[in-house]
Amino acid sequence: MNILVTGGAGLIGSHLCESLAKKGHEIIIFDNFSYGSKKNIKSLLHYEHVQVIKGDCRNLNNVKDAVKDAEVVFHLAANPDVRLSSTKPEIFFEQNIYATYRLLEGIRKNSKIHTIVFTSTSTVYGEATKIPTPEDYSPLIPISIYGASKLACEALISAYAKTYDKNAIILRLANIIGERSTHGILYDFVRKLKNNSSLLNILGDGTQKKSYLYISDCVNAIETAWKRARNQIEFFNIGSEDQVSVRKIAEIVVSEMGLENVKLIFSGGVDGGRGWKGDVKNMLLDISKIKRLGWKPKYNSAEAIRVTIKRMIR
Ligand SMILES: NC(=O)c1ccc[n+]([C@@H]2O[C@H](COP(=O)([O-])OP(=O)(O)OC[C@H]3O[C@@H](n4cnc5c(N)ncnc54)[C@H](O)[C@@H]3O)[C@@H](O)[C@H]2O)c1
Repeated sequence: MNILVTGGAGLIGSHLCESLAKKGHEIIIFDNFSYGSKKNIKSLLHYEHVQVIKGDCRNLNNVKDAVKDAEVVFHLAANPDVRLSSTKPEIFFEQNIYATYRLLEGIRKNSKIHTIVFTSTSTVYGEATKIPTPEDYSPLIPISIYGASKLACEALISAYAKTYDKNAIILRLANIIGERSTHGILYDFVRKLKNNSSLLNILGDGTQKKSYLYISDCVNAIETAWKRARNQIEFFNIGSEDQVSVRKIAEIVVSEMGLENVKLIFSGGVDGGRGWKGDVKNMLLDISKIKRLGWKPKYNSAEAIRVTIKRMIR
């Protein structure tokens, strides 16, 4: 299979490309290297069947080059920084919504791509009243600009799929963690503790609780959904089956880094203890749909955090 992976040099993209390349697929890694890096895809460069294109989804000429030989696209390129979206909404309109529209136009006009796999997010659910939250939960009321931008992408992708006879697989991911992260809570805590190992400043009141999934479990889930989805447009939640609070995460990170007597200082947060405006305080996805396809996570949230920290600090 000839596969295009946008955002292929990022956290999830680079791990996904490694797995697809090992299985012998022809891969085109398409990335503007804004967050991703050459280092992330170093192990892939020796494969003859892996091609790297430096380009931007917002640029139609770049997109034309990338899509012309592909049959399937995994569209991961995006700005994934939820917190940043509360202060710079325009970035998310451009880098998520507009970039996705441009890619879809490239697919429509210049390619034989028949399947679009899209990495969406749990944040499209906003503050769901049903926990664990199933795929058919409604109404979808995102509370972050990031969540809104990804929901807009979901809508564009499903409409293009219906209008131009494509398949669409939309994956709503929980927090994905693993080595090569460039943002997020673990990255933030490790960086702060390396600078000052006696105290840790934490955003929010520490009670925010969410589901965390290790990167290898995420890649397996993405491949399972891609291979086994049967309907023209399918939605899958991907996450672990439990939650961990921010306070607990801080304790795990401190212990895995071998530190003692670290003072945890909570900012208290905004809007009832959130880390920032738009931070969802309680997130757990119902993953029974993807489990019925034969996938299940190997690690729970706390184990995923421990494994990630061990690999981040070694
Ligand atoms: N990591 C998570 O917890 C998580 C959770 C839910 C959804 N997602 C989604 O999964 C996808 C991958 O996330 P990630 O954590 O690997 O992020 P990442 O930042 O590591 O990867 C995104 C990649 O896209 C590239 N990119 C960004 N804008 C681009 C553009 N306009 N053109 C070409 N390349 C561009 C970046 O350089 C980067 O390599 C994103 O769509 C994100 O929204 C991630």
